[in-house]
Amino acid sequence: MTDIKKGLAGVVVDYTAVSKVNPETNSLLYRGYPVQELAATQPFEAVAYLLWNGELPTDVELAQLRAVERQNRALPADVRAVIDRVPLDAHPMDELRTAVSLIGAQDLAGSGSVLDASGNPEENLARSVRLFAVLPAIVAYGQRRRRGLEPVAPRDDLDYSANFLWMTFGEVPDDVVVDAFNRSMILYAEHSFNASTFTARVITSTLSDLYSAVVGAIGALKGPLHGGANEAVLHIFDEIGDAAAVNGWLDTALAEKRKIMGFGHRVYKRGDSRVPTMKAALDTLVNHYDRPDVAALYDALESEFVARKGIYPNLDYPSGPAYNLIGFDTLTFTPLFVAARVTGWTSHILEQLAANALIRPLSEYNGADERHIDGYVADE
Ligand code: CMC
Repeated sequence: MTDIKKGLAGVVVDYTAVSKVNPETNSLLYRGYPVQELAATQPFEAVAYLLWNGELPTDVELAQLRAVERQNRALPADVRAVIDRVPLDAHPMDELRTAVSLIGAQDLAGSGSVLDASGNPEENLARSVRLFAVLPAIVAYGQRRRRGLEPVAPRDDLDYSANFLWMTFGEVPDDVVVDAFNRSMILYAEHSFNASTFTARVITSTLSDLYSAVVGAIGALKGPLHGGANEAVLHIFDEIGDAAAVNGWLDTALAEKRKIMGFGHRVYKRGDSRVPTMKAALDTLVNHYDRPDVAALYDALESEFVARKGIYPNLDYPSGPAYNLIGFDTLTFTPLFVAARVTGWTSHILEQLAANALIRPLSEYNGADERHIDGYVADE
């Protein structure tokens, strides 16, 4: 019998130098640095630089990256025009996927105009930086459009995270809020061979283009077993209502064999390394917005579910309510994950291309035995 690893669980398919997930020690390293240290000390732009280049930037390198990022922040008019044609009821992940697809199709040197569209490393790095720079405008406009609002132009005097919030809300919140948001972006940036990153690597391995890989990754991230879980956590919070209702709600949900979103992980079985840092950011927001009810519901569901099932929260559990407190619509949560993870995806695309092998696994056939069409006679 062939030993099938359903869902590729436990299968090591390649090397990566981008990040290291160690479930034994509950640690996550980006290019060797613990993610908690990066979240506590770095702006998101510096972490993006680290993921792409392998080292944290010098002051000069960070200034250069920021200059390019600021030049590419604005929402292009034709991207806005295409977004405006996406139905308002469509999921914002579909809107985002469409916008990235358009941006790719307009980059004739780096997309489908040539058969081998994979490009060279410098051009692909430049494309990565431009996508990283423009995604906040697309995500922010998505939320504003659903609220019937015009886009807000970027501000050159603000760093990435503050500008992202400015373009979404038309104001810059207090520093504690910007800091919590910046930490969430860093925590979401990279996580080795997760489903969306692997999707990007599979697409890249055919020597397709960077944009196609990112579009495919967005599609993989949308699902509730992956990035869609942060949105799903808020739906669960809305369903439960308050901490006092947790036990009864959980009785019913578990009797119905529902998956409790924001809990469980393929790799971490004793807790997600990113959760304590994001939970601390959530606590800051709870204090800032004076919402002890959110903390009470969070704690009640976590302690009851862990006690009953021994399954621990993942990053989406604290980030969902954190984004809600900041003022993001629930539908915007997974697009925020895209804006962060594009740095990890593109780092993996560059790594895949640098030592490429077509990704093409095997399957064990378990369909009908060989059979033939009645009356068919083979041509001589
Ligand atoms: N709620 C209820 N039961 C669960 C959950 C959950 N959240 N997670 C795992 N289980 C149960 C599952 O039903 C199964 O039970 P049984 O053995 O009785 O059939 C057992 O635990 C093993 O689960 P699994 O689904 O086989 O484990 P996996 O490693 O394939 O799945 C997972 C990992 C993330 C898909 C799963 O835990 C899950 O569906 N969680 C909810 C969705 C979620 O929060 N996703 C975010 C993942 S992390 C961040 C990200 O990528 O965005």
